[in-house]
Amino acid sequence: MSYVDLHCHILPGLDDGAATMEETLRHARRLHAEGVRDVACTPHVKRAHFRGIHLSGLAQAREEAQRAIEGEGLGVRLHPGGELAHRDALLLSPQQLRHIAQGPAGARWLLLECPFAGIDEDFVTAAQRLSVLGYGLLLAHPERAAGGHDALWPLVEAGALLQVNVCSLLGNHGLDVQELAADFVRRGLAYCLASDGHPGSRDHTLQLGFHLLLAAGASSAQAYRLTQSNPRFLLHQGIPSLDFEPVAASS
Ligand SMILES: [Fe+2]
Repeated sequence: MSYVDLHCHILPGLDDGAATMEETLRHARRLHAEGVRDVACTPHVKRAHFRGIHLSGLAQAREEAQRAIEGEGLGVRLHPGGELAHRDALLLSPQQLRHIAQGPAGARWLLLECPFAGIDEDFVTAAQRLSVLGYGLLLAHPERAAGGHDALWPLVEAGALLQVNVCSLLGNHGLDVQELAADFVRRGLAYCLASDGHPGSRDHTLQLGFHLLLAAGASSAQAYRLTQSNPRFLLHQGIPSLDFEPVAASS
């Protein structure tokens, strides 16, 4: 079996991930060596910070990187994606969103970034909009949000899934984030782990994540689910759109 990473900034020259194709290839060599065989390419879709991304050009950028990777004989498969900021999720057209959706027809889903400033009403509104448009949701690094986590639970009850970062478990974002990440794992709230890799500045892969899970007290079966079978399931089978309960009319 092999690791499946659903969050990685591996495409070159788009955001704060890989700067060049050589850096993309250097990271692909590491992925190959550490047993990561499937990688979703998830550049930031966050116009406030990264203005140069053209969503309609992502497929071609991914194909070029895939060709270069195969040219080196590396067994790393690239998949579509994008790390969608909630403010952009409120603005992008359905046609634009299609360029960064993942999963099969009928169970398409989006990687929605939990804001560092905290989970707020706008984030929930964005999640609801994407759901109305028919998307399932994987919420990226909720442990890195500064607060507002109670607003996540209705989304999780409606079918949103949580993705925790390797770097959070590693302690790179401080003790509070590390403890929250471990807590999400311990309580079974984390559906999968991701590298959120930024080649050149954040190079670790899911192999490290697997061992960090074991060190944090997860069983080998749970570590396997979080780094391999669960993300593989999302890649191939998708996520149903969220099922929000209608708000009951007050009497
Ligand atoms: Fe990311």
